[in-house]
Amino acid sequence: MRTHYCGQVDQTLTGETVTVYGWVHRRRDHGGVIFIDLRDREGLLQVVFDPDVDAFAVAETLRSEFIIKVTGRVRQRPEGTINADMKTGQIELLGKELEIVSKAKTPPFPLDEHQNVGDDVRLKYRYIDLKRPELAENIRFRAKLSSKVRQSLEAQGYLEMETPMLTKATPEGARDYLVPSRVHPGHFYALPQSPQLFKQLFMMSGFDKYYQIVKCFRDEDLRADRQPEFTQIDIEASFVDEEQVMGMAEELLKSCFKDLLDVDLGDFPRMTYEEAMRRFGSDKPDLRVKTELVDIDDIVKDEAFKVFAEPANKDGGRVAALNVPGAGSLSRKDLDNLTKFVSAYGARGLAYIRVNEKANGREGLQSPIVKNLSDEALAAILERTGANDGDVIFFGADTYKIVSDALGALRLKLAKDLDQIEEGWKPLWVVEFPMFEEADGRLYACHHPFTSPVESVAAVAANPLKANARAYDCVLNGTEVGGGSIRISDFETQLEVLNLLGIKEEEAQAQFGFLLNALEYGAPPHGGIAFGFDRLVMLMKGVSSIRDIIPFPKTQSATCLMTEAPSKATFSQLQELHIKTVATAGQNKD
Ligand code: AMO
Ligand code: AMP
Repeated sequence: MRTHYCGQVDQTLTGETVTVYGWVHRRRDHGGVIFIDLRDREGLLQVVFDPDVDAFAVAETLRSEFIIKVTGRVRQRPEGTINADMKTGQIELLGKELEIVSKAKTPPFPLDEHQNVGDDVRLKYRYIDLKRPELAENIRFRAKLSSKVRQSLEAQGYLEMETPMLTKATPEGARDYLVPSRVHPGHFYALPQSPQLFKQLFMMSGFDKYYQIVKCFRDEDLRADRQPEFTQIDIEASFVDEEQVMGMAEELLKSCFKDLLDVDLGDFPRMTYEEAMRRFGSDKPDLRVKTELVDIDDIVKDEAFKVFAEPANKDGGRVAALNVPGAGSLSRKDLDNLTKFVSAYGARGLAYIRVNEKANGREGLQSPIVKNLSDEALAAILERTGANDGDVIFFGADTYKIVSDALGALRLKLAKDLDQIEEGWKPLWVVEFPMFEEADGRLYACHHPFTSPVESVAAVAANPLKANARAYDCVLNGTEVGGGSIRISDFETQLEVLNLLGIKEEEAQAQFGFLLNALEYGAPPHGGIAFGFDRLVMLMKGVSSIRDIIPFPKTQSATCLMTEAPSKATFSQLQELHIKTVATAGQNKD
């Protein structure tokens, strides 16, 4: 029987006999004495075998990652061998009995040299990678966070309720994962992109407060903070407005940060979507970065320089400047690379002014564009941007979206490159989102089609692109950690919003008939939010990849290197599902 975890054996047990199980982390043979660093989930323990015990012969055969059982006496380490960095560094276990519980092949990579091992190898042998204390700690932190969230929400009267995984499409803007039905040939379930519609139905049924820590599935392009299956803390409540939802969500985050990290997040400032785009070129501004975009349309609109004057005079155009302190240290080549960087956001160039010596007027400025600008314009730009010697002012001139996206991304990149990101936590709420955005001549919901507009349904129908949504996003250090809204709770508004999105009544009935019917049977005003659980864990643990906090993550191309999912179905499976596949050259996984 185990009496203690390895990592829990400490000085208070000196002189006592204990039994531990663990993995051989390292074996060292020292002049006839064998030292084993034995590892379990709580930490490392040094075990010593002297040559005079029977166990010594077995100890000599131990290899890395063997699982063993050891009984022995805890003793103080000799003077000079105390390891202050180790939790159990004051003591060691003098091994008496030793049993090999499981032998192990040599692992494909040593646990403490994982940096030199490709991601692919680590993902293929994920069960070995998960032994690494740092990674294991991230996974354990997940458990702590979900437990804390449950406690908090349950204390406030939220009920954890489950929603189906085999369901109908729940539109959140991504593609669906489909599951074929065997008993209904040609019919498919969709895995939920979120429990959105079900949580609203819970409100209509009168449950009042719902939450769930739940898997969501989205077939979309993957990035460092996106996985095809991920976890949400999904919340919904009745008879609430946005203030109450944001207040509750803010308290939830604050209490998690306080209890798990001893961090006071403070009150979350509010910022409208419009202000966030204007000042930071992003709907999820990182407020740890101090630089801001400033508009200069009025300064350049009468200049002869067409690159600036044209968008400055155009509806929907924008000319903005971003002054970056200390960017004067960048080389010509660095600046050329930045032009390439912003071109990914559609920018057709990246004009800049290097401020060498402000006091020297035009002569003190180095730039491909100063020759095109009048003295008055230059002076006004310097004044408005507050640029000083050693700074570089960058410019974007194009549509509002291209300029905001390009300079917004440049702002973050330069802050990172020049090491100008402040330490600490900067949460905020972004509010007053537009209802819709336009692309390829049609409207898309900025949040989702069940979000209530601020304006009346008639006003929304008359001018959809001017309509605002009762939606809010929670942003932390430049990451969107959560988003939600007050929902549409009446049939007519819902039908009209779907209609504006190009979903006519017949199609709406086919896709969401159950929701529309439910609305007709009576709905309380309701709203909620969903936090990206994985993203919260990422931020709280300070890791840059979502894979480092998910036990069994998928690669960029949505495969699992360990199980080799997705894999081909057998002919008989496909036959049973009434499915014929069309092989497309070059697109098959293998
Ligand atoms: P939304 O689509 O904004 O809202 O999702 C909520 C939060 O989930 C996280 N998230 C993701 N995390 C990892 N990988 C992904 N692929 C991924 N996609 C989203 C983000 C995001 O803020 N039903 C609504 C919520 C509501 O209105 O209540 C919804 O799903 O952190
Ligand atoms: P040009 O007159 O096209 O040679 O451009 C002069 C400078 O303006 C170059 O440094 C370009 O990178 C820059 N530039 C061109 N188009 C834009 C734009 N749309 N926004 C910002 N800078 C631009």
